[in-house]
Amino acid sequence: MQTLRDLPALRSAVQTLKSDRKPLVLVPTMGALHDGHMALVEEARRHGRHVVVSIFVNPRQFGPNEDLAAYPRREAKDAQMLQAAGVDILWAPTVDVMYPAGYATNISVTGISDGLDGAARPGHFDGVATVVTKLFNQVRPDVAIFGQKDYQQLAVIRRFVADLNLPIEIVGLPTQRAEDGLALSSRNAYLSEEERKAALALPRALGEAKRQIEKGEPVEGALAQAIASLAAHGFGPIDYVSLCDAATLEPMAVLDRPARLLGAAKLGKTRLIDNIAVDPV
Ligand code: PAF
Repeated sequence: MQTLRDLPALRSAVQTLKSDRKPLVLVPTMGALHDGHMALVEEARRHGRHVVVSIFVNPRQFGPNEDLAAYPRREAKDAQMLQAAGVDILWAPTVDVMYPAGYATNISVTGISDGLDGAARPGHFDGVATVVTKLFNQVRPDVAIFGQKDYQQLAVIRRFVADLNLPIEIVGLPTQRAEDGLALSSRNAYLSEEERKAALALPRALGEAKRQIEKGEPVEGALAQAIASLAAHGFGPIDYVSLCDAATLEPMAVLDRPARLLGAAKLGKTRLIDNIAVDPV
């Protein structure tokens, strides 16, 4: 595996990989890799001959009071894991390579990025859309793989890929979970032992609300119960627990089409998110 940090080296390595015309797959990450990321890498192996993983902690997707400085960085260990998984290139640009002096361009996706995390974290999806567009232009993959844990992020990426006619297949992989059901996330590393136990209330509250809604109980009541359960387990502030159209992420008050139940809340200093499918029976 080659670890590359500047664009000329990346372009030349990508050109060499692409010379056999076999599909090239990109897995964009912010590092601190866990089994969830490694499942994306495995999926990448199934989709293409060549795999590039990017590690870049993107400052533009963090708000002023968020955890940019504290975000876990473990590149040496990450590189070992990627090497063992047979990745061809680790693309790990510096901030100056990604956003050189004078950088002035922003990619903004309206509508689908406005609610949920877009409302709770203003500017977050502009940062994501901008860096992912740049990663796509830098690596020029045929396929890119993302986790469904960041469900709204995946929807935003699908939107701009379609809108900008980017010739890239976007694959969304189901959320990888710990044995007890907690969604795997680099931010789980922030949780104390006590908080790690309490964190289970998030998938459980979503699971219970899903059961109620699919049984035909009123959506509003099920969401209120999920919020109350999170608060009782020490979560707060709770940014949202919301039932949304699975494709457009428009809020839904009645389950009349495929939906997604999404939740985001803080537990101590750690912000956790999760989501599950809710389907009309
Ligand atoms: O999901 C992430 O890790 C990041 O948001 C991404 C897609 C790598 C963009 O920085």
